[in-house]
Amino acid sequence: MTTETLTLMIAERLDDKGDIMRLTLTDPTGAPLPPVTAGAHIDVLVATDSDTMWRQYSLAGDPADRSNWTLGILKEPASRGGSVALHDIARKGAELRITGPRNHFGLVEADKTYLYGGGVGVTPMLAMAYELHARGAAFELHYCTRSADRAAFDDLLRAAPFAESVHQHHDDAESKFNTDALPDPADDTHLYICGPEGFMSWLIGAAEARGHASAHIHREYFSADVDVTGDTFEVEARASGITVTVGEGESIVTALARSGISVEVKCEEGICGTCLTDVLEGEPDHRDHFLTDEEKADNSEMCLCCSRANSARLVLDI
Ligand code: FES
Repeated sequence: MTTETLTLMIAERLDDKGDIMRLTLTDPTGAPLPPVTAGAHIDVLVATDSDTMWRQYSLAGDPADRSNWTLGILKEPASRGGSVALHDIARKGAELRITGPRNHFGLVEADKTYLYGGGVGVTPMLAMAYELHARGAAFELHYCTRSADRAAFDDLLRAAPFAESVHQHHDDAESKFNTDALPDPADDTHLYICGPEGFMSWLIGAAEARGHASAHIHREYFSADVDVTGDTFEVEARASGITVTVGEGESIVTALARSGISVEVKCEEGICGTCLTDVLEGEPDHRDHFLTDEEKADNSEMCLCCSRANSARLVLDI
């Protein structure tokens, strides 16, 4: 799957339940879109009169259909403003600048796959369901929402060729998801979880308590609270020949920027991996949700937008 910068057209906008806007994106010339695999996301440039920001959205449609991409975008007034701005400016026929697709949430081969989407976290699960159905693989999709009247994509899920594998759970009804219903752990059983941070930690904690190996619990965060506080430490940017001190409440990205070293960032919440950088010396204090537990233990890479140091000094390949 290649990563490209593209200008795509909003072919359709649908304001769905639960403050979720569904956008259908196409190439303005009608050309096929780049190939994707389930779990992929794109970065969308949200440009307003006063600001520009990149936001990450999972692709929700059938990965085999290269005529269009589907996004589901939750309007979150309490967040940093990207989703509200996009809800304001997205119009049928308008163009959006995007990069991607990228995929760090891809499906692995498994005898049985369980997909758990909380709210708008159902979006990558839809793409996964299409792909698993096309493979003839055994899977269940569990979609958890606060109530039926907030269940976006309901029409699509009911009409989908995999509808019999979909289970909807509403917090205010008997169908509310009970973690007792999680499957037993097995070598060939994999779980995929996406949703708000509280949903993620609740379900991941329950799956781990049930005995599922961390490597079998695949996770995709949409947003995360970032805590960049901690003691000061030094960062040597070896390729640039510059050493900076990272203050108690600032990120490595901010400290490096003071010395003229620019690190590309997108989410600034430790979820997209854009700022991932090689670590040459020292021990990072990983605070991101991008790297796996194994990659964090390896300490050879770190996300500079949110992670800090457990050692007094870090040497980075930048
Ligand atoms: S900018 Fe997204 S992980 Fe750092």
